[in-house]
Amino acid sequence: ASVKEFRNDLISWFKGNQRDLPWRQDKDPYKIWVSEIMLQQTRVETVIPYFNGFIKKFPTVDALALADEGDVLKAWEGLGYYSRARNLQAAVREVHTSYGGVVPNSKAEISKLKGVGPYTSGAILSIAFDIPEPAVDGNVMRVISRIIASYDDISKQKTRKNIEEIIKILISKDDPSAFNQGLMELGALICTPTTPSCAICPVQKHCKAYEENVQTQLPIKAKK
Ligand code: ADE
Repeated sequence: ASVKEFRNDLISWFKGNQRDLPWRQDKDPYKIWVSEIMLQQTRVETVIPYFNGFIKKFPTVDALALADEGDVLKAWEGLGYYSRARNLQAAVREVHTSYGGVVPNSKAEISKLKGVGPYTSGAILSIAFDIPEPAVDGNVMRVISRIIASYDDISKQKTRKNIEEIIKILISKDDPSAFNQGLMELGALICTPTTPSCAICPVQKHCKAYEENVQTQLPIKAKK
């Protein structure tokens, strides 16, 4: 059970089993960005129609940059957490004026944009630009905690940093997009919080929590 086999098992499964989601139609960094901001506090099924409507109304960086804030907030109505929409438009305006409407493809530049934290920058860089950067959200922390049977508290910043370092080692340099989305998809479809489907898991043979039958005890989350 090598790192190479893990990568290959995860990516092969993702390619054959991924959901057909609208933000997976192309690699446009702007669309990936919008989707990742929407998906931060909102479930996939809810996001789908909002994403489609938003992209229809504001199809490009320049369109969103030049739109009235009121129209943007109207398109966001029902999604909640409206600061996400305000920050997104502010950041898109920055890309419009400072980068000629082209989303930057370096960690340093993209991380300066309002509302773009370590998760979002990693997701955009890997999915849109094929750059091997980790994109660690709650799903990914759960999957990795189980794979390595870690009892570290995932609400701690240090644990998240550790998981990012582990992913830097594990991530495929050939297909970082499929690797990161494979981890997200595994967390959503197989490695679920309370009743994971270990019997059909593509990476069962790599999973220490499964081996020790502790998968439902992990991850540890002290806060909240
Ligand atoms: N959750 C966060 N990012 C996602 C993505 N790209 N696809 C599906 N679910 C996600």
